Amino acid sequence: MRVHVLGAAAGGGFPQWNCNCGNCARLRAGTLQGRPRTQSSICVQGLPGPDWALVNASPDILSQIRATPALHPRRATRDSGIAAVVLSDAQVDHCTGLLMLRESTRPLPLWCTDPVYEDLTRGNPILGVLGHFCGVERRTIPLDGSPFSIEGVPGLQLAALPLASKAAPYSPHREHPVPGDNIGLVLTDTASGRRLFYAPGLGERSEAVDAAMRSADCVLVDGTFWTDDEMIVLGLGRKTGRSIGHLPQSGRGGMLEWLDELPHGTRKVLIHVNNSNPILDEASPQRAELVARGVEVAWDGMDIEL
Ligand code: MLT
Ligand code: MN
Ligand code: ZN
Repeated sequence: MRVHVLGAAAGGGFPQWNCNCGNCARLRAGTLQGRPRTQSSICVQGLPGPDWALVNASPDILSQIRATPALHPRRATRDSGIAAVVLSDAQVDHCTGLLMLRESTRPLPLWCTDPVYEDLTRGNPILGVLGHFCGVERRTIPLDGSPFSIEGVPGLQLAALPLASKAAPYSPHREHPVPGDNIGLVLTDTASGRRLFYAPGLGERSEAVDAAMRSADCVLVDGTFWTDDEMIVLGLGRKTGRSIGHLPQSGRGGMLEWLDELPHGTRKVLIHVNNSNPILDEASPQRAELVARGVEVAWDGMDIEL
Protein backbone atom coordinates (compact mmCIF):
# COMPACT_ATOMS: atom_id res chain seq x y z
CA MET A 1 0.00 0.00 0.00
CA ARG A 2 1.20 3.46 -0.83
CA VAL A 3 -0.12 6.51 0.98
CA HIS A 4 0.71 9.95 -0.35
CA VAL A 5 0.01 13.00 1.80
CA LEU A 6 -1.45 15.75 -0.37
CA GLY A 7 -2.13 18.15 2.48
CA ALA A 8 -1.12 17.86 6.14
CA ALA A 9 -2.65 21.04 7.63
CA ALA A 10 -6.00 21.50 9.33
CA GLY A 11 -8.69 23.86 8.02
CA GLY A 12 -7.14 27.19 7.00
CA GLY A 13 -3.82 25.65 5.96
CA PHE A 14 -0.40 26.93 7.00
CA PRO A 15 0.03 29.83 6.85
CA GLN A 16 -3.65 30.74 7.07
CA TRP A 17 -4.56 33.67 4.82
CA ASN A 18 -5.72 35.99 7.63
CA CYS A 19 -3.64 34.68 10.51
CA ASN A 20 -0.83 36.65 12.10
CA CYS A 21 -0.07 34.18 14.89
CA GLY A 22 3.59 33.52 15.72
CA ASN A 23 3.77 30.45 13.47
CA CYS A 24 2.03 32.04 10.46
CA ALA A 25 3.91 35.35 10.74
CA ARG A 26 7.30 33.67 11.13
CA LEU A 27 6.64 31.29 8.24
CA ARG A 28 5.79 34.24 5.96
CA ALA A 29 8.88 36.12 7.13
CA GLY A 30 11.08 33.10 6.47
CA THR A 31 12.22 32.93 10.08
CA LEU A 32 10.41 29.74 11.09
CA GLN A 33 12.15 26.41 10.72
CA GLY A 34 9.29 24.57 9.08
CA ARG A 35 7.27 24.26 5.90
CA PRO A 36 3.96 25.48 4.56
CA ARG A 37 1.17 22.93 4.39
CA THR A 38 -2.09 22.74 2.48
CA GLN A 39 -5.37 21.43 3.85
CA SER A 40 -5.91 17.84 4.91
CA SER A 41 -6.05 15.16 2.20
CA ILE A 42 -4.31 11.92 1.25
CA CYS A 43 -4.42 9.55 -1.70
CA VAL A 44 -3.96 5.80 -1.38
CA GLN A 45 -3.43 2.77 -3.58
CA GLY A 46 -2.99 -0.95 -2.90
CA LEU A 47 -1.13 -2.27 -5.93
CA PRO A 48 1.14 0.05 -7.91
CA GLY A 49 -0.80 1.45 -10.85
CA PRO A 50 -2.21 4.62 -12.35
CA ASP A 51 -5.30 4.91 -10.14
CA TRP A 52 -5.69 6.17 -6.59
CA ALA A 53 -8.43 6.67 -4.02
CA LEU A 54 -8.55 10.27 -2.87
CA VAL A 55 -9.42 10.43 0.81
CA ASN A 56 -10.97 13.83 1.44
CA ALA A 57 -11.15 16.59 -1.16
CA SER A 58 -9.55 19.73 0.22
CA PRO A 59 -10.15 23.27 -1.05
CA ASP A 60 -6.46 23.12 -2.06
CA ILE A 61 -7.00 20.11 -4.32
CA LEU A 62 -5.97 21.83 -7.56
CA SER A 63 -2.54 22.84 -6.27
CA GLN A 64 -2.20 19.43 -4.61
CA ILE A 65 -2.87 17.68 -7.91
CA ARG A 66 -0.44 20.01 -9.69
CA ALA A 67 2.24 19.02 -7.19
CA THR A 68 1.56 15.29 -7.59
CA PRO A 69 2.57 13.82 -10.99
CA ALA A 70 0.96 10.46 -10.11
CA LEU A 71 -2.44 12.12 -10.31
CA HIS A 72 -1.89 13.89 -13.65
CA PRO A 73 -3.88 12.98 -16.79
CA ARG A 74 -1.95 10.58 -19.07
CA ARG A 75 -4.20 8.09 -20.83
CA ALA A 76 -6.62 10.32 -22.73
CA THR A 77 -7.26 13.98 -23.48
CA ARG A 78 -9.35 14.08 -20.29
CA ASP A 79 -8.11 11.78 -17.52
CA SER A 80 -7.13 11.66 -13.85
CA GLY A 81 -5.32 9.40 -11.44
CA ILE A 82 -8.23 9.90 -9.02
CA ALA A 83 -10.43 6.82 -9.40
CA ALA A 84 -12.80 7.68 -6.55
CA VAL A 85 -13.23 10.01 -3.59
CA VAL A 86 -13.74 8.82 -0.01
CA LEU A 87 -14.86 11.26 2.70
CA SER A 88 -14.15 10.98 6.41
CA ASP A 89 -16.63 13.77 7.26
CA ALA A 90 -18.48 16.70 5.68
CA GLN A 91 -16.27 19.54 6.99
CA VAL A 92 -15.32 22.37 4.60
CA ASP A 93 -11.64 21.39 4.54
CA HIS A 94 -12.52 17.82 3.49
CA CYS A 95 -15.29 18.24 0.94
CA THR A 96 -15.25 21.57 -0.87
CA GLY A 97 -12.51 20.36 -3.22
CA LEU A 98 -15.22 18.26 -4.87
CA LEU A 99 -16.42 21.44 -6.58
CA MET A 100 -12.97 21.84 -8.14
CA LEU A 101 -13.30 18.41 -9.76
CA ARG A 102 -16.50 19.39 -11.61
CA GLU A 103 -14.88 19.04 -15.06
CA SER A 104 -14.69 15.27 -14.60
CA THR A 105 -15.92 13.51 -17.75
CA ARG A 106 -17.84 10.96 -15.68
CA PRO A 107 -19.82 11.18 -12.46
CA LEU A 108 -17.30 11.11 -9.60
CA PRO A 109 -17.50 7.90 -7.60
CA LEU A 110 -18.05 9.23 -4.06
CA TRP A 111 -17.87 7.06 -0.96
CA CYS A 112 -19.41 8.59 2.18
CA THR A 113 -21.62 7.70 5.13
CA ASP A 114 -25.34 8.52 5.19
CA PRO A 115 -24.98 11.47 7.65
CA VAL A 116 -22.21 12.98 5.49
CA TYR A 117 -24.34 12.54 2.36
CA GLU A 118 -27.20 14.27 4.17
CA ASP A 119 -24.99 17.24 5.13
CA LEU A 120 -23.69 17.58 1.57
CA THR A 121 -27.17 17.57 0.10
CA ARG A 122 -28.82 19.80 2.78
CA GLY A 123 -26.71 21.90 5.19
CA ASN A 124 -23.99 22.41 2.56
CA PRO A 125 -25.59 21.18 -0.67
CA ILE A 126 -22.45 20.95 -2.79
CA LEU A 127 -23.58 17.64 -4.29
CA GLY A 128 -26.63 19.44 -5.67
CA VAL A 129 -24.31 22.03 -7.24
CA LEU A 130 -22.06 19.29 -8.63
CA GLY A 131 -25.15 17.69 -10.16
CA HIS A 132 -25.15 20.57 -12.66
CA PHE A 133 -21.64 19.49 -13.74
CA CYS A 134 -20.21 15.96 -13.52
CA GLY A 135 -22.40 14.78 -10.64
CA VAL A 136 -21.43 11.98 -8.32
CA GLU A 137 -21.99 8.26 -8.29
CA ARG A 138 -22.69 7.83 -4.64
CA ARG A 139 -21.49 4.75 -2.75
CA THR A 140 -22.47 4.15 0.87
CA ILE A 141 -19.77 3.60 3.47
CA PRO A 142 -21.14 0.98 5.86
CA LEU A 143 -20.92 1.85 9.56
CA ASP A 144 -20.87 -1.71 10.86
CA GLY A 145 -17.21 -2.13 10.03
CA SER A 146 -17.82 -4.37 7.03
CA PRO A 147 -15.04 -4.07 4.49
CA PHE A 148 -15.46 -2.44 1.11
CA SER A 149 -13.24 -2.00 -1.89
CA ILE A 150 -13.08 0.65 -4.56
CA GLU A 151 -13.45 -0.16 -8.22
CA GLY A 152 -10.25 0.71 -10.06
CA VAL A 153 -8.07 0.65 -6.92
CA PRO A 154 -7.05 -3.00 -6.60
CA GLY A 155 -5.28 -4.53 -3.64
CA LEU A 156 -6.89 -2.20 -1.12
CA GLN A 157 -9.63 -2.93 1.36
CA LEU A 158 -11.27 -0.26 3.49
CA ALA A 159 -13.42 -0.34 6.61
CA ALA A 160 -14.96 2.53 8.58
CA LEU A 161 -15.18 3.11 12.29
CA PRO A 162 -17.57 5.77 13.65
CA LEU A 163 -15.64 8.32 15.72
CA ALA A 164 -16.52 10.72 18.47
CA SER A 165 -15.69 14.04 16.84
CA LYS A 166 -17.87 16.85 15.50
CA ALA A 167 -20.10 17.36 12.49
CA ALA A 168 -19.64 20.58 10.52
CA PRO A 169 -21.30 23.78 11.85
CA TYR A 170 -23.96 23.59 9.08
CA SER A 171 -24.90 20.04 9.99
CA PRO A 172 -28.29 19.53 11.66
CA HIS A 173 -26.43 17.22 14.08
CA ARG A 174 -23.56 19.55 15.01
CA GLU A 175 -24.58 19.47 18.68
CA HIS A 176 -26.17 16.02 18.59
CA PRO A 177 -23.63 13.75 16.96
CA VAL A 178 -24.84 10.68 15.11
CA PRO A 179 -22.66 7.70 14.16
CA GLY A 180 -21.11 8.41 10.79
CA ASP A 181 -20.65 12.18 11.12
CA ASN A 182 -16.97 11.33 11.39
CA ILE A 183 -15.25 8.10 10.63
CA GLY A 184 -11.81 6.65 10.98
CA LEU A 185 -10.68 4.41 8.15
CA VAL A 186 -8.82 1.14 8.40
CA LEU A 187 -7.03 0.65 5.09
CA THR A 188 -5.61 -2.80 4.44
CA ASP A 189 -3.20 -3.97 1.77
CA THR A 190 -4.94 -7.20 0.72
CA ALA A 191 -1.68 -8.83 -0.39
CA SER A 192 0.46 -8.17 2.68
CA GLY A 193 -2.27 -7.59 5.28
CA ARG A 194 -0.50 -4.41 6.37
CA ARG A 195 -2.77 -1.75 7.76
CA LEU A 196 -3.10 2.00 8.07
CA PHE A 197 -5.48 3.69 10.49
CA TYR A 198 -6.45 7.16 9.26
CA ALA A 199 -8.41 9.64 11.39
CA PRO A 200 -7.72 13.35 10.79
CA GLY A 201 -10.46 14.31 13.28
CA LEU A 202 -10.46 12.29 16.48
CA GLY A 203 -12.13 13.81 19.54
CA GLU A 204 -11.90 11.14 22.22
CA ARG A 205 -10.66 7.69 23.04
CA SER A 206 -12.87 4.65 22.71
CA GLU A 207 -12.25 0.94 22.92
CA ALA A 208 -13.09 0.38 19.26
CA VAL A 209 -10.68 3.07 18.06
CA ASP A 210 -8.05 1.83 20.45
CA ALA A 211 -8.36 -1.67 18.98
CA ALA A 212 -8.11 -0.32 15.42
CA MET A 213 -5.01 1.69 16.32
CA ARG A 214 -3.41 -1.31 18.01
CA SER A 215 -3.91 -3.51 15.00
CA ALA A 216 -2.46 -0.97 12.55
CA ASP A 217 1.12 -0.91 11.28
CA CYS A 218 0.84 2.86 10.93
CA VAL A 219 -1.55 5.38 12.48
CA LEU A 220 -2.09 8.69 10.71
CA VAL A 221 -4.14 10.62 13.23
CA ASP A 222 -5.45 13.96 14.46
CA GLY A 223 -2.58 16.40 15.04
CA THR A 224 -4.71 19.56 15.16
CA PHE A 225 -3.77 21.07 18.53
CA TRP A 226 -0.93 20.71 21.01
CA THR A 227 -3.01 22.02 23.94
CA ASP A 228 -6.77 21.95 24.40
CA ASP A 229 -6.97 25.73 24.95
CA GLU A 230 -4.43 26.68 22.26
CA MET A 231 -6.83 28.83 20.21
CA ILE A 232 -8.09 30.64 23.31
CA VAL A 233 -4.63 31.33 24.76
CA LEU A 234 -3.36 32.68 21.42
CA GLY A 235 -6.46 34.87 21.04
CA LEU A 236 -7.47 33.07 17.84
CA GLY A 237 -10.77 31.58 18.94
CA ARG A 238 -13.07 30.82 21.83
CA LYS A 239 -13.37 27.07 21.63
CA THR A 240 -11.30 24.27 23.06
CA GLY A 241 -9.92 21.55 20.81
CA ARG A 242 -11.99 18.86 22.48
CA SER A 243 -15.21 20.87 22.05
CA ILE A 244 -14.70 20.92 18.27
CA GLY A 245 -13.76 17.26 18.09
CA HIS A 246 -9.96 17.30 18.27
CA LEU A 247 -8.06 15.56 21.06
CA PRO A 248 -4.97 17.65 21.91
CA GLN A 249 -1.55 16.02 21.87
CA SER A 250 -0.18 17.12 25.24
CA GLY A 251 -1.39 16.59 28.76
CA ARG A 252 -3.22 13.86 30.61
CA GLY A 253 -5.45 11.80 28.38
CA GLY A 254 -3.93 13.47 25.31
CA MET A 255 -2.95 11.91 22.01
CA LEU A 256 0.72 11.42 22.98
CA GLU A 257 -0.19 9.32 25.99
CA TRP A 258 -2.39 7.23 23.74
CA LEU A 259 0.28 6.82 21.08
CA ASP A 260 2.79 5.79 23.78
CA GLU A 261 0.60 2.79 24.56
CA LEU A 262 0.57 1.40 21.03
CA PRO A 263 2.56 -1.76 20.30
CA HIS A 264 6.26 -1.34 19.69
CA GLY A 265 6.97 -0.79 16.01
CA THR A 266 3.74 1.05 15.20
CA ARG A 267 4.55 4.00 12.98
CA LYS A 268 2.92 7.11 14.45
CA VAL A 269 2.22 10.14 12.30
CA LEU A 270 0.21 13.28 13.09
CA ILE A 271 -1.82 14.93 10.32
CA HIS A 272 -4.43 17.74 10.08
CA VAL A 273 -2.10 20.07 12.01
CA ASN A 274 -3.53 23.50 12.82
CA ASN A 275 -1.39 26.54 12.03
CA SER A 276 -1.39 27.48 15.73
CA ASN A 277 0.31 24.21 16.76
CA PRO A 278 3.90 24.67 18.03
CA ILE A 279 4.95 21.31 16.49
CA LEU A 280 5.01 23.05 13.08
CA ASP A 281 8.16 24.80 14.30
CA GLU A 282 10.85 22.16 13.84
CA ALA A 283 13.05 23.96 16.37
CA SER A 284 10.40 23.97 19.11
CA PRO A 285 10.63 21.97 22.35
CA GLN A 286 7.25 20.45 21.51
CA ARG A 287 8.64 19.08 18.24
CA ALA A 288 11.66 17.74 20.12
CA GLU A 289 9.28 15.94 22.45
CA LEU A 290 7.57 14.29 19.47
CA VAL A 291 10.93 13.15 18.14
CA ALA A 292 11.84 11.72 21.54
CA ARG A 293 8.54 9.83 21.65
CA GLY A 294 8.89 8.50 18.10
CA VAL A 295 6.04 10.54 16.62
CA GLU A 296 6.29 12.07 13.13
CA VAL A 297 4.51 15.09 11.67
CA ALA A 298 3.06 14.62 8.17
CA TRP A 299 4.05 17.08 5.44
CA ASP A 300 2.75 17.77 1.95
CA GLY A 301 4.38 15.25 -0.37
CA MET A 302 5.15 12.66 2.32
CA ASP A 303 4.95 9.05 1.14
CA ILE A 304 4.17 6.19 3.47
CA GLU A 305 4.84 2.71 2.11
CA LEU A 306 3.23 -0.14 3.95
C1 MLT B 1 -12.30 20.94 11.89
O1 MLT B 1 -11.51 20.05 11.57
O2 MLT B 1 -12.65 21.12 13.06
C2 MLT B 1 -12.87 21.82 10.81
O3 MLT B 1 -12.37 21.43 9.57
C3 MLT B 1 -12.62 23.26 11.09
C4 MLT B 1 -12.85 24.10 9.88
O4 MLT B 1 -14.01 24.27 9.45
O5 MLT B 1 -11.89 24.59 9.30
MN1 MN C 1 -10.73 19.97 9.63
ZN1 ZN D 1 -1.72 31.12 12.38
